[in-house]
This record gives sequence, C-alpha cells and structure tokens, in this order.
Amino acid sequence: MPMQPWFRDAKLGIFLHYGIYAVDGVPESWAFYDGDVPHERYMSQLDRFTASDYDPRAWAALFARAGARYAVLTARHHDGVALWDTGQGDLSVVARSPAGRDLIAGYTEALRDQGLKVGLYYSHSDWNHPDYATAVHPEPHDEEIRTNRYASARPGEEDPAAWARFLAYRDAQVGELVNRYRPDLLWFDGEWERSEEQWGLDALAGLILAANPDTVLNARMLRHGDYATPEQGVPVVAPDGPWELCLTVNDSWGFRHHDHHHKSVRQLVRHLAETIGMGGNLLLAVGPREDGTIPAEQAARLEGLGEWVAKHSTAVYGTVAGLPAGHHYGPSTLSSDRRTLYLMCFDTPRETVSLRGLRTPVRRVSVLGRGTALGHRVVGGLGEVPGVLWIDAPPAADVDDCATVLAVELDGELELYRGAGRD
Ligand code: GLC
Repeated sequence: MPMQPWFRDAKLGIFLHYGIYAVDGVPESWAFYDGDVPHERYMSQLDRFTASDYDPRAWAALFARAGARYAVLTARHHDGVALWDTGQGDLSVVARSPAGRDLIAGYTEALRDQGLKVGLYYSHSDWNHPDYATAVHPEPHDEEIRTNRYASARPGEEDPAAWARFLAYRDAQVGELVNRYRPDLLWFDGEWERSEEQWGLDALAGLILAANPDTVLNARMLRHGDYATPEQGVPVVAPDGPWELCLTVNDSWGFRHHDHHHKSVRQLVRHLAETIGMGGNLLLAVGPREDGTIPAEQAARLEGLGEWVAKHSTAVYGTVAGLPAGHHYGPSTLSSDRRTLYLMCFDTPRETVSLRGLRTPVRRVSVLGRGTALGHRVVGGLGEVPGVLWIDAPPAADVDDCATVLAVELDGELELYRGAGRD
C-alpha cells in the first residue's frame, strides 16, 4: 500500500507510554519480565492507578503547540493491561483500577478536534495472558527469549490450542480498537518473541485493513508494515522507504520519578531537523504520571520545540529530504516543488555559509522566520563542476537560538553535482 500522504507530511508525532507502570515509576512491563520488581508488586500498581487528572484535551492542545501532527498512545503494552474496556478478559484499567474508565476515547476525540491523526500502540506480546507463554520462537534473535517464563513455553510444554486461543484474543482486542476508535495508525511492538507465521500477521493485517484500508502500520507488523521504526539510535543514513525515529525526551518511555535526564530543546530541534532532513518523522516520547499529567519539564521541552517549529514551519511541513551529506554542514529540507532549499545552521554562522555542488541558479536567500535577504554569490567552478555558493552570514539579530534556517530560492528544480571534480 502506498504510504498515506498525511504520514509523510506530518514530520512530528508524540508517543505516550501511559499505564500502571507510572504509579511506582518502574520500566513499563519490563520491570517484572526482567525480575527487577516481583510480579505481584508490579500488578499491585493497578490498585493505585487513578488517572485523576487525565485531561486529553490538554494533551492534544500541548501536542498541537509542539507542532505535532499525530500521537501514539499505548493502548496495551507488553504487560497486557488495556486502557479501554476490553471485552476480552478483565485486565484493564477500566475493570481493575480506581481510574475505572476508558482512557482511549477521550484521547482520540481530543486529537481529532485539534486536527491531529490518531495512533494507537498495541504490543503483540502479552506477558500476563495465561495463553501467551505456550509457544516458542523457532529462531529467536536472542536465546534468552526462550527461557523467560513470561515469554515462552518451557521445553516440551508448547500448547498449540492455547496459542490459537491467544491469537483469537489478540484479534478480538485489535478488532475492538479498530472498530471503536478507528485509528489512523496502529503502532505494533514486541514482534520479536514469535515468528511472523506464529503471529498470524496475514490474518491480523487483513482484519485491520478490512475495517479501514488506510490504516498506517509500522514495521513491527513485519511484511505488512508501511514504515521502518529505528528506536533511540539516531540513524546516520536514512532507512529505505518511509520511516520514523522514536526517541524519548529523557531516558525512559514511561514516567520515572528519578529520570530528569531530559534532552534540551536545542537537542530536540537537532533531532527533528536531522530526521526530517533525511526524510523521516520524529516520534517523540513523553511519559505521563499515573494521574495523567505530563511532567512540567517534558511539557516545557514540547513547548520549546513547538516555538522553533512554528517559526520555521515552511521548512518542516510539506517538505522532503534535503541535500545528501557533503553539500552543506548541517541538515536541510527541500520544498515539495523542489525549488526551495532550507539549510539548517545549528551554530552561529561566521562570515559566510557555503553550499557546494549546486547546479541550479539561486534567485534569493533569506532568513526564514525573519525575512532578511542575504547577499550571495557563486565563486569558482569549471565546466560541469559548479562553483561554491557563498551566502553572507545573517546579522546577529536574525540568528535563532536553536537553529537558524536559510531559505535558498532556486531558479528551477534542484539539480546537484555529485562528482569528484575534474580529473
Ligand atoms: C521497545 C520496548 C518498549 C517500548 C518500545 C517503544 O520495543 O519493549 O518498552 O514501548 O520499545 O519503541
């Protein structure tokens, strides 16, 4: 399926890991899987999960101010705890926690009212389901998966009937999500514990796309995925096809009381610029507290990022990947008509900014968000090898605190010289 245009143009999404793990501030699901927290203690967070200040309208308004065009909420993480009133068992915050209500409907409505697309995260794996650890991956990428009692059947104890029941439960839950909330995007996870065949992904994709053929699916739907999902590790070269970098604003997916290691607004601007400069989207993760509020230091990062995006929106939305490395010292984007280049300068430009290998003549260069026109000239060049475009550095008053963007308007569509110069 061709990628939905909204996804390519969105550039920024917000990832929300919201669940019972926020109560004690332990790693989402992994806390009991890894044995760091006894299972009973982990599950006791259900009794203290209140969602007492859950205000999805405030979330959506904040995300819109951040410049995001979509969000993804953990409908059900690997711990199996559903944020909606599932008809499949009673392991939900609706049935089992003081929150006592659906936490997805309000979120989807609030996003849509802000014009944002709705994403739901759903983990293939469910470490709490009685039928889950009844199969074993034939070739796991990590042998430990076979020995973890929450993930895999013990040797000789596989139970195909139980596994079939698990798949029916999974299909029914995904069916609930798709039919009740009509998400624009489903963000799957946890695929590494079984093979594609074991997961029955053909059937799952069929079920989702029958309900809404435009649903975007991430790569953790394996063959059925529409886009790659590099996680935390910022790619150096662009993955093939559409992609999205998921990245935490601090060091954790979910809320953790002691994690104050937040990236600065400048660093977030860099990550966004580098990602969109290589044609990807940034899915920036925040972790709401158990009451549903987004910690102030995370909200402040989103506001700061949003200020930069608002000032430079033409360099962000509706653009495509910019120049390959070697032409400009920094990322760049290109307008969809390929006639304007946006050069991102993270440092304060001194004297001049150079652009190499540009074949298309330049009409005008200006500082985006300020309008100041900058002098420019081409120096050198011989035959088919273009000279260097020297752009006068912007005046100090026009230098942005995070990243100054120079709009280079071309006299035609971008054409580059990619060679090694004359012999
Ligand atoms: C990993 C983790 C998970 C997190 C996800 C986000 O797959 O298992 O905790 O939700 O990354 O990309």
